[in-house]
Amino acid sequence: MTHSINRRSFLKTAGLGLGAAVVACGGLTALATQPPALDFYESTGDNAMTDKILIAYASKCGSTGEVAQAIADELTRRGQAVDVRLAGSVKTIAGYRAVLVGSAIRMGQWLPEAVKFVERNAAVLPSLPNAFFTVHMLNTGDDAASRQARAAYLAGVHQFMAAQSEVFFAGKLELAKMSFLDRLISQAMKAQDEDKRDWAAIRAWAQTVLA
Ligand SMILES: Cc1cc2nc3c(=O)[nH]c(=O)nc-3n(C[C@H](O)[C@H](O)[C@H](O)COP(=O)(O)O)c2cc1C
Repeated sequence: MTHSINRRSFLKTAGLGLGAAVVACGGLTALATQPPALDFYESTGDNAMTDKILIAYASKCGSTGEVAQAIADELTRRGQAVDVRLAGSVKTIAGYRAVLVGSAIRMGQWLPEAVKFVERNAAVLPSLPNAFFTVHMLNTGDDAASRQARAAYLAGVHQFMAAQSEVFFAGKLELAKMSFLDRLISQAMKAQDEDKRDWAAIRAWAQTVLA
Protein backbone atom coordinates (compact mmCIF):
# COMPACT_ATOMS: atom_id res chain seq x y z
CA MET A 1 0.00 0.00 0.00
CA THR A 2 1.67 3.25 -1.05
CA HIS A 3 0.74 6.83 -0.33
CA SER A 4 2.06 9.87 -2.11
CA ILE A 5 3.00 12.56 0.38
CA ASN A 6 2.27 16.15 -0.58
CA ARG A 7 3.66 18.99 1.51
CA ARG A 8 2.20 22.41 1.81
CA SER A 9 3.83 24.97 4.02
CA PHE A 10 2.54 28.00 5.80
CA LEU A 11 4.07 30.52 8.15
CA LYS A 12 2.68 31.07 11.59
CA THR A 13 2.09 34.76 12.11
CA ALA A 14 2.02 34.59 15.89
CA GLY A 15 4.60 33.76 18.56
CA LEU A 16 8.23 33.48 17.55
CA GLY A 17 7.46 33.48 13.85
CA LEU A 18 7.87 29.74 13.64
CA GLY A 19 7.60 27.94 10.34
CA ALA A 20 5.15 25.12 10.19
CA ALA A 21 4.18 22.54 7.66
CA VAL A 22 1.32 20.14 7.35
CA VAL A 23 1.75 16.87 5.58
CA ALA A 24 -1.30 15.84 3.65
CA CYS A 25 -1.61 12.08 3.43
CA GLY A 26 -3.43 11.25 0.25
CA GLY A 27 -2.87 9.00 -2.72
CA LEU A 28 -5.27 6.31 -3.76
CA THR A 29 -8.04 7.55 -1.52
CA ALA A 30 -10.67 6.56 -4.05
CA LEU A 31 -10.16 2.96 -3.00
CA ALA A 32 -12.41 2.02 -0.12
CA THR A 33 -9.56 0.33 1.72
CA GLN A 34 -7.48 3.50 1.78
CA PRO A 35 -7.59 5.95 4.68
CA PRO A 36 -9.19 9.32 4.01
CA ALA A 37 -6.86 12.26 3.26
CA LEU A 38 -5.57 13.55 6.57
CA ASP A 39 -3.35 16.38 7.74
CA PHE A 40 -0.55 15.52 10.14
CA TYR A 41 1.21 18.24 12.10
CA GLU A 42 4.86 18.92 11.42
CA SER A 43 6.41 22.19 12.57
CA THR A 44 9.84 23.73 12.87
CA GLY A 45 11.03 25.77 15.83
CA ASP A 46 13.27 28.84 15.73
CA ASN A 47 16.01 27.87 13.27
CA ALA A 48 18.50 30.26 14.85
CA MET A 49 18.63 28.07 17.95
CA THR A 50 20.90 25.07 18.07
CA ASP A 51 19.75 23.37 21.28
CA LYS A 52 16.44 22.19 19.91
CA ILE A 53 14.03 19.61 21.19
CA LEU A 54 12.62 17.02 18.80
CA ILE A 55 9.12 15.60 19.15
CA ALA A 56 8.84 12.58 16.85
CA TYR A 57 5.45 10.88 16.68
CA ALA A 58 3.42 8.27 14.84
CA SER A 59 -0.29 8.58 14.17
CA LYS A 60 -2.97 7.01 12.00
CA CYS A 61 -5.77 9.55 12.30
CA GLY A 62 -4.06 12.75 13.48
CA SER A 63 -4.98 13.01 17.16
CA THR A 64 -1.47 12.10 18.34
CA GLY A 65 -0.06 14.87 16.15
CA GLU A 66 -2.37 17.36 17.85
CA VAL A 67 -1.08 16.13 21.22
CA ALA A 68 2.52 16.45 19.95
CA GLN A 69 1.81 19.99 18.78
CA ALA A 70 0.23 20.93 22.13
CA ILE A 71 3.36 19.67 23.92
CA ALA A 72 5.52 21.67 21.48
CA ASP A 73 3.44 24.82 22.02
CA GLU A 74 3.88 24.52 25.78
CA LEU A 75 7.67 24.00 25.48
CA THR A 76 7.87 26.91 23.01
CA ARG A 77 5.96 29.11 25.43
CA ARG A 78 8.74 28.38 27.93
CA GLY A 79 11.37 29.59 25.46
CA GLN A 80 12.43 26.25 23.96
CA ALA A 81 12.87 25.66 20.22
CA VAL A 82 10.98 22.55 19.17
CA ASP A 83 10.66 20.58 15.94
CA VAL A 84 7.61 18.32 15.55
CA ARG A 85 8.11 15.55 13.01
CA LEU A 86 6.46 12.34 11.90
CA ALA A 87 8.76 9.61 13.27
CA GLY A 88 9.14 8.04 9.85
CA SER A 89 10.42 11.28 8.31
CA VAL A 90 13.23 11.98 10.82
CA LYS A 91 16.60 11.25 9.18
CA THR A 92 18.79 11.95 12.20
CA ILE A 93 18.50 13.07 15.82
CA ALA A 94 22.03 14.54 15.72
CA GLY A 95 22.03 18.08 17.10
CA TYR A 96 18.91 17.76 19.22
CA ARG A 97 19.38 18.32 22.94
CA ALA A 98 16.33 16.23 23.91
CA VAL A 99 13.92 13.90 22.14
CA LEU A 100 10.29 13.07 22.94
CA VAL A 101 8.69 10.15 21.11
CA GLY A 102 4.94 9.63 20.89
CA SER A 103 2.66 7.03 19.38
CA ALA A 104 -0.98 6.22 18.98
CA ILE A 105 -1.99 2.69 19.99
CA ARG A 106 -3.40 0.21 17.51
CA MET A 107 -4.38 -3.26 18.67
CA GLY A 108 -2.43 -2.99 21.90
CA GLN A 109 0.83 -1.71 20.47
CA TRP A 110 2.75 1.41 19.50
CA LEU A 111 2.65 2.06 15.77
CA PRO A 112 5.58 0.45 13.89
CA GLU A 113 7.05 3.81 12.70
CA ALA A 114 7.48 4.95 16.32
CA VAL A 115 9.02 1.64 17.41
CA LYS A 116 11.36 1.71 14.41
CA PHE A 117 12.37 5.29 15.23
CA VAL A 118 13.42 4.20 18.73
CA GLU A 119 15.18 1.12 17.37
CA ARG A 120 17.09 3.23 14.80
CA ASN A 121 18.19 5.70 17.49
CA ALA A 122 18.70 3.30 20.38
CA ALA A 123 22.46 3.93 20.46
CA VAL A 124 22.11 7.68 21.10
CA LEU A 125 18.62 8.30 22.47
CA PRO A 126 19.27 6.95 26.00
CA SER A 127 22.14 9.43 26.43
CA LEU A 128 19.85 12.42 25.77
CA PRO A 129 17.00 13.68 27.93
CA ASN A 130 14.11 11.62 26.56
CA ALA A 131 10.47 10.75 27.13
CA PHE A 132 7.71 8.62 25.62
CA PHE A 133 4.05 9.62 25.37
CA THR A 134 1.32 7.20 24.38
CA VAL A 135 -2.12 8.20 23.09
CA HIS A 136 -4.90 5.62 23.46
CA MET A 137 -8.59 5.09 24.32
CA LEU A 138 -8.83 1.96 26.48
CA ASN A 139 -7.43 1.19 29.93
CA THR A 140 -7.40 4.83 31.00
CA GLY A 141 -8.44 4.16 34.62
CA ASP A 142 -6.35 4.56 37.75
CA ASP A 143 -6.90 0.96 38.89
CA ALA A 144 -4.11 -1.61 38.83
CA ALA A 145 -5.63 -3.63 35.96
CA SER A 146 -5.82 -0.56 33.69
CA ARG A 147 -2.32 0.54 34.59
CA GLN A 148 -0.96 -2.92 33.87
CA ALA A 149 -2.84 -3.19 30.57
CA ARG A 150 -1.59 0.17 29.28
CA ALA A 151 1.94 -0.50 30.49
CA ALA A 152 1.90 -3.53 28.17
CA TYR A 153 1.42 -1.17 25.18
CA LEU A 154 5.12 -0.33 25.53
CA ALA A 155 6.38 -3.93 25.36
CA GLY A 156 7.55 -3.55 21.75
CA VAL A 157 9.46 -0.32 22.25
CA HIS A 158 10.90 -1.50 25.58
CA GLN A 159 12.84 -4.13 23.66
CA PHE A 160 15.08 -1.23 22.69
CA MET A 161 14.92 1.14 25.67
CA ALA A 162 12.76 2.57 28.43
CA ALA A 163 12.43 6.35 28.54
CA GLN A 164 13.22 8.61 31.49
CA SER A 165 9.58 9.69 31.55
CA GLU A 166 6.67 7.66 30.17
CA VAL A 167 3.16 9.04 30.13
CA PHE A 168 -0.24 7.91 28.81
CA PHE A 169 -2.83 10.32 27.46
CA ALA A 170 -6.44 9.51 26.62
CA GLY A 171 -6.92 10.08 22.88
CA LYS A 172 -9.60 10.55 20.28
CA LEU A 173 -11.64 8.28 18.02
CA GLU A 174 -13.04 9.71 14.81
CA LEU A 175 -14.61 7.13 12.53
CA ALA A 176 -14.57 9.41 9.46
CA LYS A 177 -10.76 9.62 9.62
CA MET A 178 -10.20 5.87 9.77
CA SER A 179 -9.32 3.46 7.01
CA PHE A 180 -12.13 1.16 5.96
CA LEU A 181 -10.63 -1.72 7.94
CA ASP A 182 -10.05 0.31 11.12
CA ARG A 183 -13.62 1.62 10.90
CA LEU A 184 -14.93 -1.94 10.57
CA ILE A 185 -12.94 -3.01 13.64
CA SER A 186 -14.13 0.04 15.58
CA GLN A 187 -17.75 -0.49 14.61
CA ALA A 188 -17.52 -4.17 15.55
CA MET A 189 -16.36 -3.00 18.98
CA LYS A 190 -19.31 -0.55 19.08
CA ALA A 191 -16.85 2.34 19.27
CA GLN A 192 -18.20 5.81 18.59
CA ASP A 193 -16.63 9.18 17.95
CA GLU A 194 -15.14 10.45 21.19
CA ASP A 195 -12.45 12.93 22.18
CA LYS A 196 -11.04 12.12 25.63
CA ARG A 197 -7.94 14.29 25.40
CA ASP A 198 -7.26 16.23 28.59
CA TRP A 199 -5.39 19.28 27.33
CA ALA A 200 -4.66 20.55 30.85
CA ALA A 201 -2.98 17.22 31.71
CA ILE A 202 -1.03 17.27 28.43
CA ARG A 203 0.18 20.84 29.05
CA ALA A 204 1.02 20.02 32.68
CA TRP A 205 3.21 17.11 31.60
CA ALA A 206 4.92 19.30 28.99
CA GLN A 207 5.73 21.83 31.69
CA THR A 208 7.58 19.30 33.83
CA VAL A 209 8.95 16.70 31.43
CA LEU A 210 12.30 18.30 30.68
CA ALA A 211 12.47 20.61 33.69
C1 LIG B 1 -8.43 -0.04 14.89
C2 LIG B 1 -8.11 0.63 16.19
C3 LIG B 1 -7.50 -0.09 17.20
C4 LIG B 1 -7.23 0.52 18.43
N1 LIG B 1 -6.65 -0.22 19.41
C5 LIG B 1 -6.49 0.33 20.64
C6 LIG B 1 -6.00 -0.45 21.72
O1 LIG B 1 -5.66 -1.63 21.58
N2 LIG B 1 -5.89 0.15 22.94
C7 LIG B 1 -6.24 1.45 23.15
O2 LIG B 1 -6.14 1.93 24.29
N3 LIG B 1 -6.67 2.24 22.14
C8 LIG B 1 -6.81 1.70 20.90
N4 LIG B 1 -7.27 2.47 19.85
C9 LIG B 1 -7.54 3.90 20.10
C10 LIG B 1 -6.44 4.82 19.52
O3 LIG B 1 -5.19 4.53 20.09
C11 LIG B 1 -6.83 6.29 19.80
O4 LIG B 1 -8.04 6.55 19.12
C12 LIG B 1 -5.78 7.27 19.38
O5 LIG B 1 -6.15 8.58 19.85
C13 LIG B 1 -5.59 7.31 17.88
O6 LIG B 1 -4.52 8.15 17.57
P1 LIG B 1 -4.34 8.79 16.11
O7 LIG B 1 -5.56 9.67 15.88
O8 LIG B 1 -3.10 9.61 16.25
O9 LIG B 1 -4.22 7.68 15.14
C14 LIG B 1 -7.56 1.88 18.63
C15 LIG B 1 -8.14 2.60 17.60
C16 LIG B 1 -8.42 2.00 16.39
C17 LIG B 1 -9.09 2.79 15.30
